[in-house]
Amino acid sequence: MKSTLDFLKMKKEGEKIAMLTAYDYPSAKLAEEAGMDVILVGDSLGMVVLGYESTVSVTVDDMIHHGKAVKRGARDTFIVVDLPFGSYHGSADQTLAEAVRTFQQTGAHALKLEGAGQVIEKIRLLTETGIPVVAHLGLLPQSAGVVGGYKVQGKTATAAQQLIDEARACEEAGAFMIVVECIPYQLGEAVSSAVSIPVIGIGAGAGTDGQVLVFHDTVKYGSHHVPKFVETFADSATLIREGLCAYKSAVKNGTFPMERHRFTMQEEELVSLYG
Ligand code: KIV
Ligand code: NA
Repeated sequence: MKSTLDFLKMKKEGEKIAMLTAYDYPSAKLAEEAGMDVILVGDSLGMVVLGYESTVSVTVDDMIHHGKAVKRGARDTFIVVDLPFGSYHGSADQTLAEAVRTFQQTGAHALKLEGAGQVIEKIRLLTETGIPVVAHLGLLPQSAGVVGGYKVQGKTATAAQQLIDEARACEEAGAFMIVVECIPYQLGEAVSSAVSIPVIGIGAGAGTDGQVLVFHDTVKYGSHHVPKFVETFADSATLIREGLCAYKSAVKNGTFPMERHRFTMQEEELVSLYG
């Protein structure tokens, strides 16, 4: 399993970091078997697994429930768990209590927090407590309502400079990695060279130190909206749909179960069965 130091080394040596989300035992197992460097238990689980409209409905208990399942499925992979909406914006004590609970109960190796501003001090607090922190800048799904939706961020020189300043502040506060979401590729490149910690992009171009995608988007599992910046690497929904239809038809037309699926009673027992 890799450590925070390995990620730093990968950045220095120009080896890209591959990150994927996972939300349960089987997805974690598959991600680990594929050799992901990092598994993220993203609060995107609210949308892709629980069917909510946004990540705002996700609770700390949801994250713990899914984080534990992921840990059971991927014992040898570095796991990051998202702190969900509202769980790290109260007092330092409240934030620490939620973070410690999540970190301890899931057995994750790091927690991820969205934003800069007052979150910078929370990054410092958790890091000083001994919890490795991944920062998250650019498009912040938990704050999408404030900026009027899921929009590309950092498109003007001023906004881009602000994001670079935020990235530096995250690094200074102790974050060991930064996720940047939905920003122009030029800014993805610029922010990656502005900090010495690895920058992982999603919708941020090819110039970042690694990439992260949502499991369900990557293999087209489910039928939710897939954003422009996603590449679908397999179409599992079609496979699963075909399999399920074949099962239903086999039940209806009696071709399932077959002889090889059944259990057999001895002849002498059969006599008493029918009187
Ligand atoms: O929740 C999530 O899946 C994320 C990634 C998109 C970075 O935060
Ligand atoms: Na997230």
